Amino acid sequence: MILLGIETSCDETGAAIASFDPKKQTVSLLSNTVASSMPLHAATGGIIPETAAREQIKYILPVINEAIQKAYKTSLIEENLPVDAIAVTIGPGLIGSLLVGVETARTLAYLWQKPLIAVNHLYGHIYANWIYRKETIQFPALALVVSGGHTDFVLMRSHNDIKVIGATRDDAAGEAFDKIGRLLDLPYPAGPHIAKLAEKGDPKKFSLPRPMIGSHDFDVSFSGLKTAALNLTKRKDIADVILRRSRRISSAKRSFGMSHTVRPFAGVYTDRSRSAQDDKIINDLCASVEQAIVDVLVKKTINAAKKYDVKSLLLGGGVAANEHLRKELEVKSSELKVNLFAPEKRLCTDNAAMIAAAGFFTKKRSSWQEISADPELYY
Ligand code: KG4
Ligand code: ZN
Repeated sequence: MILLGIETSCDETGAAIASFDPKKQTVSLLSNTVASSMPLHAATGGIIPETAAREQIKYILPVINEAIQKAYKTSLIEENLPVDAIAVTIGPGLIGSLLVGVETARTLAYLWQKPLIAVNHLYGHIYANWIYRKETIQFPALALVVSGGHTDFVLMRSHNDIKVIGATRDDAAGEAFDKIGRLLDLPYPAGPHIAKLAEKGDPKKFSLPRPMIGSHDFDVSFSGLKTAALNLTKRKDIADVILRRSRRISSAKRSFGMSHTVRPFAGVYTDRSRSAQDDKIINDLCASVEQAIVDVLVKKTINAAKKYDVKSLLLGGGVAANEHLRKELEVKSSELKVNLFAPEKRLCTDNAAMIAAAGFFTKKRSSWQEISADPELYY
């Protein structure tokens, strides 16, 4: 079976052509195209929903066309594409963005006379684990979905028995990374930047809270961590470090864009030892923040894996691209003798391949009249 997947829930516009091997229960990709309006949102420090939706409209047809080109060397006006159905994200997400994907999918389904599969974006993050999967994923499995909007612990007893056993009570893990990154004046989305800077930092340097780490449920909370980080960044010494570092970086960027007649880095803060000290403090802060988030996620995941005696652990969502989280979970899950699965990093952040993957496991087929976007959709 071959599916065209379409993903437009937020600021990524994705289209993918995927095939499914029922014997091996594995999804392979013929193409996977993603366009992102992230640079626009980086400039405003966060996503403006209307801007995201307008960008979706610009990208959607070129992205679908490119996915078809890559897979079949033809275009979307080809009448006899070997696609069996169209899988599209119907939610959760931003309504304006979702509508672009859903309405495009409905139009193509009508034109091509193909069935539609309505896919939950969160299931997409989980089913990214079936793409190019070599080992069998055994049930019961526990999925940790960690994205910009969600931190969910999901128990899967089978493909048809999926239950949320815990979630965040306030901010999602990705949101915590992004908001704390903003306090440190890092670009949006800050998760990957914090991860990069944390590589050179000392995770024990700043003591930060791990809210709810000892609670006996599988809920988490990150607002206390965010407040602690806010209080730290208000400290005069830290506030000065952030300011000096930001000025240095923006000044270096400006100089870099100047003509060669201008002395490179003219006007840049030149006290090297001080800038190295500043960088060290930011690296330590990032490492401490990352460690606090990873500690909570790992502890709760392992507790849940023990309680439900799961055979597999599945990671999904943008934060699942975090190397430190992947490594710590790898160590802890192998101690438990539980198989850890994590999608390739490019398949952790939003993409259409994961939507097609979830589509293969969704039984319901709909006609173009039957589906609509649902921004509040949950499991
Ligand atoms: O799944 P995703 O692409 O979009 C949503 O569905 O929300 O996740 C985006 C989130 C952002 O908060 C981003 O900062 C975070 O994933 N993220 C990371 C990393 N890469 C992306 N967080 C920590 N470490 C990373 N390497
Ligand atoms: Zn997502």
